Amino acid sequence: MKLNLTERLFVNSPIRLAIQHLEINWFQSIMPLEAGAQILEIGCGRGAGAKLIVEHFQPAHLYLMDLDPAMIQKASDYLNSTYQRMVSFCVGNATALPFADQSMDAAFGFGYLHHVLAWRNSLRETARVLKIGGVYYMVEYYPSLYQNFITKRILAHPERDRFTSQELRDACIEVDIALNHTFELKRLGILGVGIKTEKGAAADALTECRLKI
Ligand SMILES: C[S@@+](CC[C@H](N)C(=O)[O-])C[C@H]1O[C@@H](n2cnc3c(N)ncnc32)[C@H](O)[C@@H]1O
Repeated sequence: MKLNLTERLFVNSPIRLAIQHLEINWFQSIMPLEAGAQILEIGCGRGAGAKLIVEHFQPAHLYLMDLDPAMIQKASDYLNSTYQRMVSFCVGNATALPFADQSMDAAFGFGYLHHVLAWRNSLRETARVLKIGGVYYMVEYYPSLYQNFITKRILAHPERDRFTSQELRDACIEVDIALNHTFELKRLGILGVGIKTEKGAAADALTECRLKI
């Protein structure tokens, strides 16, 4: 679902950029990647996250996709020729990613999933395109943040089948993503880093990780 004007103003603001700096620093501290990875960013918006991904993770190639052609245009304008050499842009829906199975070393989702009605399908698609051992870096928000008494009047999101923390964690396991590292603000949102496992192995991988911690 495309953003309404209020949210568009926020995500295109310096405040969002400052928050995104903190998020990418946390991702890198938890799970750095070797340079030269194939990386996908879903729901890339105006491209601020893409610039940070290039600077922090030095991908061989970064694929940017968003449902909204206006956002893809903004991202193309935001990223100068240094970045454009390693970046491809694509308008598309996160529920049907136009990429081959197991083609990505990592996928980023900075706050797009709660905009998708069929969010489980999107998560399944993300897992499908990740290689085994590939990394999913995720920032997400809960309905108590974006659909409370005030925010439901000023923001536009799908209203049915919204995920809470446990539902999101369970859905990751179901698509073979072991969400090993999380930082959660109760009832507001979550930063997570997950690893794509072999089929049916995510729950065991999570248990192993907890035992090690
Ligand atoms: C809240 S904005 C986040 C933008 C950017 N990632 C950021 O963190 O600033 C969510 C983005 O997801 C995109 N989006 C929403 N539904 C989508 C879908 N089904 N498939 C792909 N992108 C989607 C929106 O157009 C928007 O650019």
